[in-house]
Amino acid sequence: MPRQKSKIIMFTGKGGVGKTTMSVATALHYAQSVKTLIVSTDPSGSLSEIFHTDVSKEITPISSNLDVIELTRKVVLHLWREKFADEIYTVISSFLPVEKDIIDYIEGAPGIDEEFMLDYVLTLRNAGTYEMIIWDTAPTAATLNLLFVQQLFYTHLTQAQKLYLKVKGVLNQVNPLELIHKWRRLTEEVIAMLKEDASAWVVTNPERLPVEQALFIGNSLVEFGIPLNGYILNKMLSAEVCRGNAFLETKRDNQMHWQQNLHKRTTDPIQIIPELVGDITEKDKLQQIADLLGY
Ligand SMILES: Nc1ncnc2c1ncn2[C@@H]1O[C@H](COP(=O)(O)OP(=O)(O)O)[C@@H](O)[C@H]1O
Ligand SMILES: [Mg+2]
Repeated sequence: MPRQKSKIIMFTGKGGVGKTTMSVATALHYAQSVKTLIVSTDPSGSLSEIFHTDVSKEITPISSNLDVIELTRKVVLHLWREKFADEIYTVISSFLPVEKDIIDYIEGAPGIDEEFMLDYVLTLRNAGTYEMIIWDTAPTAATLNLLFVQQLFYTHLTQAQKLYLKVKGVLNQVNPLELIHKWRRLTEEVIAMLKEDASAWVVTNPERLPVEQALFIGNSLVEFGIPLNGYILNKMLSAEVCRGNAFLETKRDNQMHWQQNLHKRTTDPIQIIPELVGDITEKDKLQQIADLLGY
């Protein structure tokens, strides 16, 4: 019997707003009942610290139902090379006189690492080993754009290739057209995965810059057709904590202003998480956050 494809929950937002914390809280919740994986593609990831284990080399089991991997740029580019370098060379060298080191230049192109992360998650999703994949740091609007542009590009590339091969009249052992078709299908599959099996939370803090950025991200995701769970407004100060302290009261007034601002500008759900004291990476704190997230 074919396994079910995994569901994916993505967390996105400005640096430092609480994406990793929300991802871990969510993963711990799901791991109580289903096989769960956290994938972090946050360049300033902190999963190894949170789990007191190096999770940056490979998928690492944390408990019976929870695995974790922190994908660094280095690992991603290594995997990308293993999977795509030969194919890319086959296609490019079929119509341009290039040496193998062309791959070094392509590897340096902006967005290649983030884009390959999409392919990595697609492979994980298709394997169906995990019922739930929690993705700490969703792809950026720039990467999603790249994906749609690429689809077009491959279509054009196919046309150009057909023409070229007609003129040239020969084929290598590996048909470059087939490779281009394969890449296009892969891109389509990634887009379908994001639309059909993924949903995103945009994490923000009650301040101007993270709120502006969150709305921009939220709107981009909707434009791309990725379902939005809503916004998580993290690190709200409670009224009791601030009472009698002029500094904190002013800070809270400002937070309330940005909370209302967010409410005015979106109809999507907004989950409020207070700023907690003590070590937030402790299990009971993360459980508290999971409860507040309404799981
Ligand atoms: N609700 C909260 N209360 C207190 N500290 C928090 C809360 N959420 C996150 N933090 C802390 O804020 C910092 C940034 O959070 P993190 O989840 O690493 O953000 P991101 O992944 O978006 O960069 C961390 O030190 C984290 O422990
Ligand atoms: Mg993080």
